[in-house]
Amino acid sequence: MLRIQDLKKHFGDNHVLNGFNMHLNEGENLVIMGKSGSGKSVMIKCLMGLMQPDSGEIEIMGERVLDLEQTELDQLRKKIGFLFQGSALYDSMTVRENLEFPLRKQNIPQKEKDTLVHEALESVGLLDAIELLPSELSGGMKRRVALARAIILHPKIIIYDEPTTGLDPITAKEIIQLMRDIQKTHGSSALIITHDVDCSRVIADRMVLLIDGINYAEGSFEELSSSKDEKIQAFFK
Ligand SMILES: Nc1ncnc2c1ncn2[C@@H]1O[C@H](COP(=O)(O)OP(=O)(O)OP(=O)(O)O)[C@@H](O)[C@H]1O
Ligand SMILES: [Mg+2]
Repeated sequence: MLRIQDLKKHFGDNHVLNGFNMHLNEGENLVIMGKSGSGKSVMIKCLMGLMQPDSGEIEIMGERVLDLEQTELDQLRKKIGFLFQGSALYDSMTVRENLEFPLRKQNIPQKEKDTLVHEALESVGLLDAIELLPSELSGGMKRRVALARAIILHPKIIIYDEPTTGLDPITAKEIIQLMRDIQKTHGSSALIITHDVDCSRVIADRMVLLIDGINYAEGSFEELSSSKDEKIQAFFK
């Protein structure tokens, strides 16, 4: 579904990515873990064509991202759902309007838009909240709305940036369950950036650790969490 090869990016003397590699298989939940400041967001920005890397190859569903024109890039981004760190809902818009936002440039009749909004909200169990403003929602509800917005166009790939951060353990579990349900119903593949060990344990088919700008280690949760390497162990303490 997605492949990054030998990705490099630096800012001045700050060499953030030094030859990072990863790939995402169809239907897979891939977790990427890395310390704060290790370059996870930089990697995602390069992936989405929002930032130009120094060198490397990025391929998404057979298309080379770095070679694409703006309109082709827009087209490709539509096939990718993105759950931003901290939900990132528009405060002045109702839940309905927030969900309609990704549809605004699509040539979809209003009736069909309504159906998509209803379906997406139903899949996160929040149809009742459709006319509420984000300020009227709890943190967990906001995350659900953000999740509904990410999946509204039935993307083949969903990228989650810290989906459970800031939530209490029970709400975090509910969000993880929803992510799994969505993956099952839509057959989508997911790239999940998280520090949450419990989240990784439940959802990761495979994990990649981003350390020192490279894919330092890869494997299942069990493999990595039982590693003797101190840098790897540090994530699971
Ligand atoms: N536009 C930029 N200009 C200069 N430096 C940048 C820029 N964007 C990111 N950086 C630097 O790149 C490094 C990686 O940042 P990044 O945001 O990718 O970290 P992260 O792994 O996402 O961290 P967190 O877990 O805190 O979100 C940091 O040292 C940051 O200061
Ligand atoms: Mg980040």
